[in-house]
Amino acid sequence: MWKVQLFKLNFDSSETDAALNVLQSGWLTMGDVTKSFESRFSSFIGNNVKSLAVSNCTAALHMSLLASGVKNGDEVIIPALTFVADANVVKLCGATPVLADCTSLDDWNVSAETIKRCITSRTKAVIIVHYAGYPCDMQSIVDLCKSRKLILIEDTAHAPGASVNGRLCGSWGDFGCFSFFSNKNLSVGEGGMVTTTNENFYNHLQKLRSHGMNALTLERHKGRAITYDVLEPGLNYRMDEIRAAIGLAQLEKLTSANIKRRTLTDRYIANLKGSTITLPFTTISETDKSVYHIMPILLPEGFDRISVINHLKKIGIQTSIHYPPFWEFKAYNESFKKSDCPIVAEICERELTLPLFPTMTFEEVDFVTSSLLSIVQ
Ligand SMILES: Cc1ncc(COP(=O)(O)O)c(C=O)c1O
Repeated sequence: MWKVQLFKLNFDSSETDAALNVLQSGWLTMGDVTKSFESRFSSFIGNNVKSLAVSNCTAALHMSLLASGVKNGDEVIIPALTFVADANVVKLCGATPVLADCTSLDDWNVSAETIKRCITSRTKAVIIVHYAGYPCDMQSIVDLCKSRKLILIEDTAHAPGASVNGRLCGSWGDFGCFSFFSNKNLSVGEGGMVTTTNENFYNHLQKLRSHGMNALTLERHKGRAITYDVLEPGLNYRMDEIRAAIGLAQLEKLTSANIKRRTLTDRYIANLKGSTITLPFTTISETDKSVYHIMPILLPEGFDRISVINHLKKIGIQTSIHYPPFWEFKAYNESFKKSDCPIVAEICERELTLPLFPTMTFEEVDFVTSSLLSIVQ
């Protein structure tokens, strides 16, 4: 149906072989392959993080809030420009999400300044997102959270491999939460990882991930444990061995795939230069390294976005919107006001996401930009 789809998997025989090996091994649920994925992921992120593979990023975020003790009556600051999971997990802990605006029409991330405006005596934690793979200004955010004794959770769904001053995203906060959903830089279908350098948090997360139990099925299988105790109420947020094996294969490709995304983004930038289309993150510092998760643009003010989407669809180009604003969702329209976040309000009306994936060709980028420019010049 699509000539250029929004995203395509970067899979070949290495993912198929990895999954097949697990299927033939006789062991499917969380075990040695998952452990190996966690350990390689920890080495990749560095800074002495410990990693726990989970069923998705939403689970990672939920567990991080639970391990932080976020509860009824607390407030958690989240970006106004993000996926709904960040608000949902806060709500499901009984706490109140509070929206922080973007830094500017160029820098779509939250900043220490926009977070500071939202802090009250009830604030317990802050969730930040490295939007589209562009890292937030982490040192000032870490300093702010430390000085106000706030837990910092990095939603790193868009940014595996992104860094600030050589330090990888997911190792700056108390927790890093990664998504391995199909369309992410590292894809396994449904999956995620939570990282932390804090031993107490790590031990707590381990229990939360697996029913609060002190022994896993694998340990019983290997004869190391006969039964188990339940130390606290927990969930089943585990990853399985098939996904972990695919994750290991994808991790091998992550750095080269991120570089490919960069060259494709550069092509987009060159093609759109001088047009009426505005691109974000044009002034990011030399020390910030993006991983170009998506290709967001701003259409000219007052332009009919739906007609652009439909026109591109007719010629076979798939686009998307990152993100519809919270105040337009039934579940949230009474909690949030558009006027509280004027920059995000403007972005949400004009944003369009163009196709971007590591196996995309320059010809496909050129086709997308020439088609777009034929209607938006
Ligand atoms: C910023 C952000 N946070 C969280 C999530 C949730 O990730 P998952 O689907 O792995 O739960 C996503 C997924 O798209 C996301 O983009």
